[in-house]
Amino acid sequence: MKFKDLMQPHLRNVKPYVPGKPIEELRREKDHLDEIIKLASNENPYPPLEEVKQAIANEIAHLNRYPNSGSYYLCSDLAEYHHLDHNKLFVGNGSNEIIDLLVRAFISPNEEIIYPFPSFIIYPIVTQLAGVKAVEVPLQDYRLDLPAMKRSITDNTKMIFVCNPNNPTGTYVNQAEVEAFLDGIRQEILIVFDEAYYEYVVAEDFPNTIDLTKNRDNIIILRTFSKIHSLSGLRIGYMIAHEEIVTCLHKVRQPFNVNRMAQIAAREALKHSDKIRARIGENREQMAFVREEMQKLGFTVPPSQTNFLLAVPPPDSGDIIERLMDHGIIVRGMRPFGLGGGTFRVTIGTRDENVKFINKLKELR
Ligand SMILES: Cc1ncc(COP(=O)(O)O)c(C=O)c1O
Repeated sequence: MKFKDLMQPHLRNVKPYVPGKPIEELRREKDHLDEIIKLASNENPYPPLEEVKQAIANEIAHLNRYPNSGSYYLCSDLAEYHHLDHNKLFVGNGSNEIIDLLVRAFISPNEEIIYPFPSFIIYPIVTQLAGVKAVEVPLQDYRLDLPAMKRSITDNTKMIFVCNPNNPTGTYVNQAEVEAFLDGIRQEILIVFDEAYYEYVVAEDFPNTIDLTKNRDNIIILRTFSKIHSLSGLRIGYMIAHEEIVTCLHKVRQPFNVNRMAQIAAREALKHSDKIRARIGENREQMAFVREEMQKLGFTVPPSQTNFLLAVPPPDSGDIIERLMDHGIIVRGMRPFGLGGGTFRVTIGTRDENVKFINKLKELR
């Protein structure tokens, strides 16, 4: 019996998501390494705030009970935080789950999904899972090409992903570009602004998509607690959208999609947004250091509004990713994102980690 032949035909060629290599895995493979630094998954190098850790610890006593099913109280807190109606909010097991639910809820077999490429690797995967046509629109100078994405719209287009800032390039599209893009797009096309790195953005002309939802019902915004809030390990993200879109997602989600610890941690993190915001400055400072040093070494490094940088090595750099790995530094190779030539993405770490990364790069390039 070949079980793989029993799988639904459109799912057989799906390539599973490959995450950045975990520290434990590299330690198993290379037990000579004294220290391993992971700069591969755009995580926050710092642990959650003390108050958040305490809230999680207190919640342990209640784990015999199922979590609140629709993350009601977190939705209330988020509604207050963003000055929105409660019914425009939906919480997921990471914003990744919400991407999956959106496709499941809204995409029928003959419809098309437009997304930029290279961009977040989950868009091609969910499109394949849905068995529908993917319309991949290449970036232009490492930035989303919104005019080309708009030109790609057909009668069958149902959803467009706008990853802003874009993972893996870190670049962004601004308010004027987004407004020009939205102008004239029919209301039946769902425009998903994936803003996982929103809290790191400092560009003043970054689009205010929450304001845009006030005049356009087809705008969907995704945010996450995985990045600046240091909660990647708990899996929690949220969506801001029209209340009918929220209702549709409640129909397709699992009954208890977001666990108790995640809900409590996110609620507590929101209470300390001033402390969270204080992390932006350090990220910018460290990113400027890493970028400058890499540029001195001949790398092309597009400017970034996130907590990571794309690094395109100078020609003839050989397998720099593998050499870094041999020396205990994990970065993310960009081949799965369609970028070869040793191109990688590096997450901004602590000062100590960044200095070690740069020193190794100088030694190994
Ligand atoms: C652009 C983008 N969207 C969504 C996500 C998923 O985030 P979450 O951890 O909330 O599922 C990521 C994670 O790296 C991302 O880079």
